[in-house]
Amino acid sequence: MAKIPREVIDEVRNSVDIGDVIGRYVQLHQAGKNLTGLCPFHEERTPSFSVNEEKQFFYCFGCGRGGNVFQFLMELKHIDFVEAVKEIADDSNISLPEQYINTQPKQPVNNENRQLFDLHDKAAKLYHHILMNTPAGEPALRYLKKRGMSEELINQFGLGYAPAQRILKPYMEKQKTDYQLMRKSGLFSEDQEGQLRDRFVDRVIYPIKNGQGQVIAFSGRLLDTTQTDLPKYLNSPETPIFNKRRTLFNYDVARKAARKDGKLYLFEGFMDVISAFGAGVTNGIASMGTSFTEEQVTIIGRTTNQLDICYDGDEPGQNAIDRAISLVNDHRPGQLQVRVVQLPAGVDPDEYVQQNGAEKFREYLANQEESTVDFYLRFFKNGKNLANQNELISYLDQALKVIARVTSPLEVDMYLQKLATEYQLDKQTLRNQLGQLKQQLGIRPRQSAPVAPPTVDYQNIATVAAQQTTQRLNRTELAEQILLRYMLYDREVWMHVTADDEFHFAHEKYQTLYLLAASYFTEHSDYSAADFLDYLTDDRLRGTLGQIEQLNIAAEADMQVVDDCINLITQQTPLSEKIADTRAQLKEANSLNNTELATQLTIELVKLLKQQQQLKTEETN
Ligand code: UTP
Ligand code: MN
Repeated sequence: MAKIPREVIDEVRNSVDIGDVIGRYVQLHQAGKNLTGLCPFHEERTPSFSVNEEKQFFYCFGCGRGGNVFQFLMELKHIDFVEAVKEIADDSNISLPEQYINTQPKQPVNNENRQLFDLHDKAAKLYHHILMNTPAGEPALRYLKKRGMSEELINQFGLGYAPAQRILKPYMEKQKTDYQLMRKSGLFSEDQEGQLRDRFVDRVIYPIKNGQGQVIAFSGRLLDTTQTDLPKYLNSPETPIFNKRRTLFNYDVARKAARKDGKLYLFEGFMDVISAFGAGVTNGIASMGTSFTEEQVTIIGRTTNQLDICYDGDEPGQNAIDRAISLVNDHRPGQLQVRVVQLPAGVDPDEYVQQNGAEKFREYLANQEESTVDFYLRFFKNGKNLANQNELISYLDQALKVIARVTSPLEVDMYLQKLATEYQLDKQTLRNQLGQLKQQLGIRPRQSAPVAPPTVDYQNIATVAAQQTTQRLNRTELAEQILLRYMLYDREVWMHVTADDEFHFAHEKYQTLYLLAASYFTEHSDYSAADFLDYLTDDRLRGTLGQIEQLNIAAEADMQVVDDCINLITQQTPLSEKIADTRAQLKEANSLNNTELATQLTIELVKLLKQQQQLKTEETN
């Protein structure tokens, strides 16, 4: 059996979300950025098993096991790597070329969802073909091009056209598609005689995909909305594979882009997402016509911690922004930070791109981004005459209520300053008023800063790390973990450290990870924990990487910290520290019943103790 190429493995791994897969076996709950649950690999009553969806790996603080989605299945089902890859590939409808698969007979695939995916895939291809290559598609293609869409963009989103004469039903029948399956797909409506008819007729087709990029529904737009009272957009009804409340347009692509940009943009319409994409903003999503939902907030919160809402600046747009902010604050308070980019009234992002071009649009997004407080300070002015004293007082009351929720004293001061200047008021009076309001609302002043200060110092990280891991780390090890973490995620740090040929980590496991990472980087330009885990065949190394990934440290590397780490690591570790360290590791190995490791560590410990003995005798002599 041939070895499966790296690209294929990566493709299969990227086709699923680790949270979805593990969620089938372990009940997971959102806890901060991670999902947590009871570890399936050891007995426990309180959850120490965590799944990081952003980085696509799992890690258990209790037993130290960690890995990517393949390693989870291998461990859980006692199967080998190829079998795990096959299982996921089957799941995602990716066919692995014959030569990689064992000759064992494949079990018959008879899964309704899979057939529905398949049907949607065929329909999407048919509609796309009609748009691009047939005379019937010409008016629609002209329409899209008139709207400024390039063929590249049309292909990217797989847009299509459902012509006036109903073609999908005969096409599916010719392929002997099961009647019940066609009924369930939502692509047909039933007439009064119970006959199926194509649902989408004379509409531009926007395929809607799930998080794995599989087509699960369509939205069809009329070419001309002036002559008719038909709805402008028509969506597939809910089906076993399409749940509107959980679906976000372009999420499959945007969530990957969001990892680089650090945020997602929420737009109102599909066309906005597509135009923004054409303008280079690939991390845009849109809800499904119906308003933004709680489920969508949860899904977004798993991908990113910043959401920029970018809607039309007209009144309905502003009301929608207000609703979206409230929804996030109700369901992800403090975890998903919301910002607002309000477009000029009456202009949606698509129109903005058409009128001003890609570059201006990107500039607008960057420059007009504002906090939700700033948004509300403007929003509450709507419909009020602030020259009227009563209305001004009611405005200030609303404004201060929003400011009362802000935790950063500096920000509070800025907003108060703004109000004071704008309405010629005394800032101290505003502050007193704010204090009263907070009391009324039951908001107590915070004792200390809620988040770690931006400058990282050892003591801080040590405290954080000690809280996060059950294993206690000594200073050297902590420095090694921090350094490796920054090396993996930051090219600059990597170059900085590797420039020194002599550099090596003090502990063998970090040195091994470092060497494996070097080989990883010869095949990949970007670091991804999930990809890298395939290079680690050793349980212990995967656990260690898990710890490193879980470190709660600033995302941006501070070069001063990097250098401090290097200095600490390259200093000779004192013997006493080595001994304490080995003792701790031994204790851990024993508690995990890892006899092999325990033996190895015992030998090491004896060796160190002998050295210590020798030193002592030398001193006394
Ligand atoms: P808009 O009416 O703002 O459409 O609806 P749009 O995105 O600007 O589209 P174009 O530029 O006219 O082509 C915003 C979103 O509301 C939903 C769709 O999801 C649309 O993208 N919608 C709108 C419907 O579901 N049905 C409708 O009849 C209209
Ligand atoms: Mn529009």
